[in-house]
Amino acid sequence: MIEDFEALRQTVLSCKNCKLCETRHNVVFGVGNPQSKVMFIGEGPGENEDLQGEPFVGRGGQLLDKMLTHVDLSRNENVYIANMVKCRPPKNRDPEKDELEACIGYLRNQVHLIRPKIIVCLGRIAACAIIDPGFKVTKQHGEFYDRNGTLMMGTFHPAALLRNPGSKPAALEDFLKLREKLDSLPD
Ligand code: URA
Repeated sequence: MIEDFEALRQTVLSCKNCKLCETRHNVVFGVGNPQSKVMFIGEGPGENEDLQGEPFVGRGGQLLDKMLTHVDLSRNENVYIANMVKCRPPKNRDPEKDELEACIGYLRNQVHLIRPKIIVCLGRIAACAIIDPGFKVTKQHGEFYDRNGTLMMGTFHPAALLRNPGSKPAALEDFLKLREKLDSLPD
């Protein structure tokens, strides 16, 4: 484990541990306040994220920012946002097993340094990898699971909400539950 956040960032920015480094424009390390109590984890960068080097900056990201604002959270203040893989899989395909395996240590290192009280998985890929391989977003969204003292919750991926706006009220409920949970934590 790298014990310094900036040193970790520099290491990840120059990573060549998998083939995604050949097609990326930018490594998408993460964004936000590393002192945050809550961390959001997505799947991997899309086109806009690859071009800008920041997670969730496309239409899905704008929706995520809106939902965060709704519960008094913001990517520049009190959350940290990262992805399972730090480089864009070509044509937005799912990350492959070898790519996930090459990258997951960086996410573990980020979690080790941030020590979030709550981890929110955005979408099935992150929830299955982090909470439970059989996680069903439609059934289990908004439920908190205690994993060695860290609370974990899965919710809809913002891109899924853009495709299926009917799930937006349920997603907002999940964010309200997150707010409640955060407010109930001791300082
Ligand atoms: N989708 C993700 O899972 N992560 C991003 O950063 C952008 C889109």
